[in-house]
Amino acid sequence: MRILAISGSLRRGSYNGALLEAAAAECPADVEFVVWHGLAELPAFDQDLETAREPLAVATLKGEIARSDAVLIATPEYNASVPGALKNALDWASRPFAANVLRGKPVAVIGASTGLFGAVWAQAEVRKILGAIGAQVDGREVPVVQAHEAFGPDGRLRDPGQAALLRTIVRDLVRPEAQRAV
Ligand code: FNR
Repeated sequence: MRILAISGSLRRGSYNGALLEAAAAECPADVEFVVWHGLAELPAFDQDLETAREPLAVATLKGEIARSDAVLIATPEYNASVPGALKNALDWASRPFAANVLRGKPVAVIGASTGLFGAVWAQAEVRKILGAIGAQVDGREVPVVQAHEAFGPDGRLRDPGQAALLRTIVRDLVRPEAQRAV
């Protein structure tokens, strides 16, 4: 089994990148957890590029999603919404709509912010976008608030309740029967 992890932040030292590392630490040993680093290489979505020759970075993203059993997205919140680079990646992945690589794919969304709300609006919007695309979306969220203080020296979430929730979400991603129950 394979989980593809995508961070919506391009920032070095990103807390959402750290959140994916914390998720990797909660992943069962027999599950491959792969962090995708191609977000910055994607061109802005352009329908003309689809009908010409698909950009390599787009084909790579689609291939990575297609060969994964599930996807985990960690999103920051920018101006109360989804970071543009992440929305752009989801727009590319949604094409062609009827047979897109996210259709029916188990996906969970988590997020960290330095503020007091843990990127909850961005997480809700990413779930909404994924639902429109046809993914099998886990309705739960992990709102990591004050992210600069949220991680212990071992890289795991300091809050035991949130660490347990993250563990459950990651494990359920690769248990399709659990996903349907959420
Ligand atoms: C932010 N930040 C932010 N935080 C939040 O909780 N709600 C918001 O609407 C915003 N808006 C926002 C806009 C822009 C342009 C930036 C750069 C930042 C703060 C944000 O949560 C913080 O920078 C996180 O550390 C970003 O995530 P990464 O890069 O650490 O993963």
